[in-house]
Amino acid sequence: MSETPEIGGRKPMVVNVEAGKSYWWCACGRSKSQPLCDGSHKSTTFSPREFKPETTGEVWFCTCKRTTTPPLCDGSHKKLAPA
Ligand code: FES
Repeated sequence: MSETPEIGGRKPMVVNVEAGKSYWWCACGRSKSQPLCDGSHKSTTFSPREFKPETTGEVWFCTCKRTTTPPLCDGSHKKLAPA
């Protein structure tokens, strides 16, 4: 059975990314440096996900970890139950 990630945030975060650079998106939701991995997944079954953009510019990373298009936001945070 797969674990459910924690909710890392309730809104996506915009990051200015550089083409060809690797970004490690937090998949577990525990990172204190959302939306990117800080190593906090070590006690979970999750691993960070590499994102290597082809173009330089702004991207909206998912922080709620409920997106169906990781690591990018698909609007799923709007369906979260109220905190
Ligand atoms: Fe969440 Fe690494 S801290 S995947």
